Amino acid sequence: MPTQPKANTHTFITNDLVKQKNINNQPIGIFDSGIGGLSIMHCIKQQLPHEDLLYVADTLNAPYGEKSAAFIQQRVNEIADWFVEKNAKAIVVACNTATVNAIDQLRKTISIPVIGVEPAIKPAVNISQHKKVAILVTKATAENQRFLALVEQYKHNTEVYIQPCPGLVELIEHDKKNSADCKLLLTAYLQPLMAKGVDTIVLGCTHYPLVKEVISDICGNDVVIMETALPVTEQLQRQLALHQLINNTNTDGATTFYSSKSCSTQQRLFSHIWQQPLSLHKFP
Ligand code: DGL
Repeated sequence: MPTQPKANTHTFITNDLVKQKNINNQPIGIFDSGIGGLSIMHCIKQQLPHEDLLYVADTLNAPYGEKSAAFIQQRVNEIADWFVEKNAKAIVVACNTATVNAIDQLRKTISIPVIGVEPAIKPAVNISQHKKVAILVTKATAENQRFLALVEQYKHNTEVYIQPCPGLVELIEHDKKNSADCKLLLTAYLQPLMAKGVDTIVLGCTHYPLVKEVISDICGNDVVIMETALPVTEQLQRQLALHQLINNTNTDGATTFYSSKSCSTQQRLFSHIWQQPLSLHKFP
């Protein structure tokens, strides 16, 4: 197996290197604090079926939304280093909280393409009829300067309400997305936004698409709910093409799943979300 540079070596991919080492047939690393990133991975699998995908859930440390920026950066570096050891050709940070807190520093130290998740603020502002948009995020994202700057950049003439949703990721991670508790918590976050006349809701955490139906039930079908899985996948596709890293085999790519909290309960939860039986390996 060809080896790739460690995350801190500053060796950049060249076309010669790609040809010489067949890097384009190496896997793509995707990670999140838990099962949220599976919503992104699902879309990647559909759009890029020949790619081998490695998924890491840092479940032992979820939720990232309640952690400090320093802690998130440390975990992101550790996971990225591990992907590099596994010869990943690109990394998808399938987590809004990790993206806003750690992607800039990660890109300075890593040589392979790193794709992050950004909430769909711009398209939401464009389609909102009443110019009232809400963004649902974790606490760590709501307090992050990079995120706040992004909102300022795109909001123009629109009222943008940033709604942190503490407690929601925990319920989703504990397989309680369809519980009365989950509905109650979401109602508490969403009703005040509805009262303000919000007509477009941006899901600014990759866990939240897993409760999209509950959100729709509370807000009604007239409210538009925006996700980011497809734009992230398209950005990954562009980056792979740019660096000549598209997998050129015709076979179905392998999907391998890891979690820092690997146990039978987690394996069941992953299989349920992925809608297929799978083996969950221990990370690291
Ligand atoms: N899924 C993540 C996000 O997109 C992290 C949620 C969390 O661990 O708090 O923000």
